[in-house]
Amino acid sequence: MYIVSNLVKVTIPNYLAGLPIPDSIGGWFRLGVRDWLSLIPPAVVVGGISYYSYETIKKARAAGNGQVNPGVRKDINKVVDFIDIEDITEKVSLCRCWRSKNWPYCDGAHGAHNKATGDNVGPAVVKHKENK
Ligand code: FES
Repeated sequence: MYIVSNLVKVTIPNYLAGLPIPDSIGGWFRLGVRDWLSLIPPAVVVGGISYYSYETIKKARAAGNGQVNPGVRKDINKVVDFIDIEDITEKVSLCRCWRSKNWPYCDGAHGAHNKATGDNVGPAVVKHKENK
């Protein structure tokens, strides 16, 4: 624990205090090549943290506002589908990601959703017992 404490309380503050950050806008124009080179590592770290934060927020927004259904029949209170088992000739893939344009059947849209969000959803495949 001492290592972490020392890093946070001593090493990092000392490193940041030693950076050639000017006190005025005009000071940026007076920095030398060595000063600019010494600013590259912290700029890379800040840029990396910013980019990671941006990607994390983008993924969270893509996941929605807590609703599972992003667009299937949003004009009704509850989406309920009835499929007569007699109509299933061999097997049927039912969408569970709520992204299919052919609802309630899977159209493969879960693949793009999984790629964009890191999710792992897929269809429920219903088969006749004799087709197993
Ligand atoms: S499209 Fe939704 S599970 Fe395949």
